[in-house]
Amino acid sequence: MQKSKTTVISAAENERQARFMDTAAAQSAAFSAENGRPPRAFVRTFGCQMNEHDSEKISGMLSCMGYSFCDSFEDADLVVLNTCCVRENAEEKVFGHLGALKALKRARPGLITVVCGCMTEQPHVVDDIKSKYRNVDLVFGTHNLHRFPELLAGVLSEGKRVYEISRTGNEVAEGVPLLREGRIHAWVTIMYGCDNYCTYCIVPYVRGRERSRRPDDIIAEIRQLDDEGFSEITLLGQNVNSYGKDLEGSPDFASLLTRICSETKIRRIRFMTSHPKDLSPRLIDVMASNPKICSQLHLPVQSGSTRLLKRMNRKYTREDYLATIKLVKEKMPGIALSTDIIVGFPGETEEDFEDTLTLLEEVRCDQAFTFIYSPRTGTPAAAYDGRVPDDVIKNRFERLLAVQNRISREINDTFLGRTVNVLCEGPSKTDPSKFTGRTEGNKIVNFTCADNPCGKFVDVEITGIQTWSLEGRA
Ligand code: 5AD
Ligand code: SF4
Repeated sequence: MQKSKTTVISAAENERQARFMDTAAAQSAAFSAENGRPPRAFVRTFGCQMNEHDSEKISGMLSCMGYSFCDSFEDADLVVLNTCCVRENAEEKVFGHLGALKALKRARPGLITVVCGCMTEQPHVVDDIKSKYRNVDLVFGTHNLHRFPELLAGVLSEGKRVYEISRTGNEVAEGVPLLREGRIHAWVTIMYGCDNYCTYCIVPYVRGRERSRRPDDIIAEIRQLDDEGFSEITLLGQNVNSYGKDLEGSPDFASLLTRICSETKIRRIRFMTSHPKDLSPRLIDVMASNPKICSQLHLPVQSGSTRLLKRMNRKYTREDYLATIKLVKEKMPGIALSTDIIVGFPGETEEDFEDTLTLLEEVRCDQAFTFIYSPRTGTPAAAYDGRVPDDVIKNRFERLLAVQNRISREINDTFLGRTVNVLCEGPSKTDPSKFTGRTEGNKIVNFTCADNPCGKFVDVEITGIQTWSLEGRA
């Protein structure tokens, strides 16, 4: 099926938002004159890297609107909850915070509460907020992120409660201001949305159809990161392997990577997430032949049972996945692998689960992110029968962790005595006498170093091993 083409939101619309930002900045200046300080915002992010990056855009717009930042609800004049709805526990946390914010707002009526992100793309959540959390001033969905200045103006200038969850169609926004976390590693979105409809997953319903950014816009952003001194980027998309199908000329992900390698100076390139059904041999070749592309791959398998993969609508078999991994390892020996696994999908039998364990033993990932299945309203699997009892899920989850922790540890043990190249991200959070950084394979290394290596690539000799990190000296 031919996809409808993605377009870019007009420059005139960006200018319109810029004018709303100017007005808000004037209001912030008046606030400063009155209070001796600018208004403070606290942006709290739930969920995945895509949300982390969206929060960098929200903070970028807030910064243009004259806000400074704090890291507690108590100190804030404006709170943004950037929500996730992939699993139920993330949603529960948000409602917990909204309850606490209700009390804060009673004490401080001027407090502005904003809720955005994936949760707000679900009508039943918006209804709940409307009826039970009247302390919330502004609700907007992922499709309206670039209109945050205009929507906030409705609250600031007109004192309205604003709910905006309309969809914009096949559009992407460019040029939204960004306040990036850190100066070494940057997130770069290459596409939005997902067309895969895995039966457990809410993402296609809340993030919409796949929409790719134009290669030239992506390259321009990365060149700017070069100029600002960034060394490492992670390209983001729900399924980066289907990049470009919705663009004129259908540039694919492999060609985008090749362009980034040759047209920018960025030293390390990572990407996530890849879908096993779309990881082409051509992409594997591009990865293997470009030293700037990190020898690292996140390839969620979800289950090792072909029967369950079919029920999940993943469109590959256990054997397909293993064949892809075999090819990846042949072309990139020593590549660092990671995966996602769901435990307790409806109908999961002991035999299905054991297929997952044996797959993990065969693939030997450096890391596996394990999730207990969480039914999501509106997804097909939420109506499937075969609910797995909680005690069975718990038992399987623990067995899965035991297997993966052993494998992770065994892989890490092979690093003892080796020298690895680390991009230093700053002082270690746990031990201020040390520095922390990542290897090409994305392993965290805490290390000692005589001079200040922040932002530099350093060779580190590994002297100690933890399950989740390595220790060493420069
Ligand atoms: N329940 C549990 N885990 C889920 N994931 C996505 N949807 C669900 C769900 N309903 C997991 C998948 C995906 C990761 C980002 O979250 O493993 O790869
Ligand atoms: Fe969800 Fe599947 Fe899309 Fe990933 S590929 S976001 S799991 S629907």
